[in-house]
Parts: sequence; C-alpha cells; structure tokens
Amino acid sequence: MTIIDGKKISEDILNEISLEVEQRTNKGYKTPHLAAILVGDDGPSQTYVNSKINACKEVGFKSSLFKYDNNITEKKLLEEIGKINNDDDIDGFIVQLPLPNSINQENILNCVNPNKDVDGFHPINYGKMTLGIDSFVPATPHGILELIKRYKIDLNGKKCLVIGRSQIVGRPISILLSQSKEFCNATVTLAHSRTLNLNELTLDADVIISAIGRPEFLTENMVKEGSIIIDVGISRVKDDNSNKGYKIVGDVDFKNVSKKTSFITPVPGGVGPMTIAMLLRNTLLACRKND
Ligand code: GUN
Repeated sequence: MTIIDGKKISEDILNEISLEVEQRTNKGYKTPHLAAILVGDDGPSQTYVNSKINACKEVGFKSSLFKYDNNITEKKLLEEIGKINNDDDIDGFIVQLPLPNSINQENILNCVNPNKDVDGFHPINYGKMTLGIDSFVPATPHGILELIKRYKIDLNGKKCLVIGRSQIVGRPISILLSQSKEFCNATVTLAHSRTLNLNELTLDADVIISAIGRPEFLTENMVKEGSIIIDVGISRVKDDNSNKGYKIVGDVDFKNVSKKTSFITPVPGGVGPMTIAMLLRNTLLACRKND
C-alpha cells in the first residue's frame, strides 16, 4: 500500500514555481500577483484563504486579500470585482466559496474576467475544460490529476467512481478523468445524494474519489481489495485532545480502509495542499500570458 504524499508533491510544485518566479525577476519580468475575495466570517473559508495568501509569500508572489462583511450586497460585490478585473497589476483572483445565501454565486462567477479566473469557475473556462481545450482547470481536480501523474497511476479503462457532484470537485474530476488524455481514459461513474445502492458501486470500483465532506463515511467493508482511494473530504470533528478542540478528517476511515488499498491519500496531507499548489500554478500561467 502506498500513501500518496500530497504535502511532498505540493512542496515540489511550490519549489518549481519559486524557481520560475526567481528567474522571472532576474529577467525583469513582472511578479505574479494573486488576489482573493473573502465574504463573511466562515471559519474554514478564512483558514483556506489565509493558507492561499501564505503560500503566495512562500513562492515570491504578490497577494491581496479583499475582505467584506456578510451583509455586502451583490451589486457592491460585483462593483468590487469589476475593479479587480481592471487592475492591471493583478494577474488572477478567486472568490472564496461558499458565498452568503443573499448573493447569487452564478452572477458573481460570471463577472470574473475569464483571463484572471485562476479558479477556472467562469463558464468560458469550465466549458473549455469540458471540451478538453487548454484553460484554467479548477485547482482541486487539477491537483488530483497531478497526484495521479506524479505517482504514475494508470487509470486507463479502470472503473472510477466519483462520489459527489459539486461544481468545484466532483463534476470537473468526473469530466477530466473520462477524457482521452494521458493518465485519464477512466470509465467514470458519478454518484451523488440520489444514487441508489452506493455500496454496490463502491465495491465494484477500481478507483474511488470521494468529495462529499461526510467524516469517515467510506468504511473498509465498502471497498475492494487493491483499490485506489482519493479522499477530498475535509471535515472538522470534535477532538478534546487537540488544543483547537477539533481535528480534521476526510471522507474515508483511513486507518481501516488503507489496509485494503494499493494507493490512498491521507487527510490532512493528501489532496488539500495540492489545491493551493495548483491555484498558484494557474496564477503563474495567467501572469505569463501578460508578459
Ligand atoms: N471553496 C472550496 N474550495 C474552493 C476553491 O477551490 N476555490 C474557491 N474559490 N472556493 C472554494
């Protein structure tokens, strides 16, 4: 059994990015600049955004954080995005999701300049990704693909079950893995909250990618011997032994499931750090296009 070390791979990618930033600086090119918009005071969103901003510092990017109250209006947020769209120094930006219910997420994402859409959520980029055209690929599915590539995991023809149909992870990874591209070519099933007999599907799958955010729901009796498990879940569960009062767990009962697998990602230290690395890589791509 191999534990896929997302922390190590993400560090390798951040080092690759740092090196390119250094080379760019030496040649007098612009420093990449990522901006993040955070609305409200959701704890996990604050943590994720802070990690993204800290990673920018690590690789030598410029970063800007725009924070707004929960009660900002959609109109005002659209105006703020318009300003960032027109700020030539900012190469790419993200709007951290979820947004408060009072704001229509679709309207917001549609307003992001597709050339700065380093999350790849604008319909133009999402459409290109779906068609297999070069575009900004959303960071989490892109990170999963990168892990598969760097561990040389062959998915050709394999039965791959994606659990969760979110716009951010489940749906895009199901699209990408089915494409006729190196390390993809999987036979993909996308399961979701209305799926019947999930256990039959999990037991039949060669590969399971779980992205539903239900702590340790995937148990040993649900997976077959030798399977490949990618755990995208990040949930906080109460833990009196931790200073914070909680610990982070994935969708998979790692301790028991790992005994049956050929490859598995841990939580934390699996897919999570890859999301940040791939976001920075998209920002570097956006910056290069401005050279
Ligand atoms: N919320 C959870 N994951 C993501 C992500 O990859 N990008 C943004 N913008 N929000 C998120």
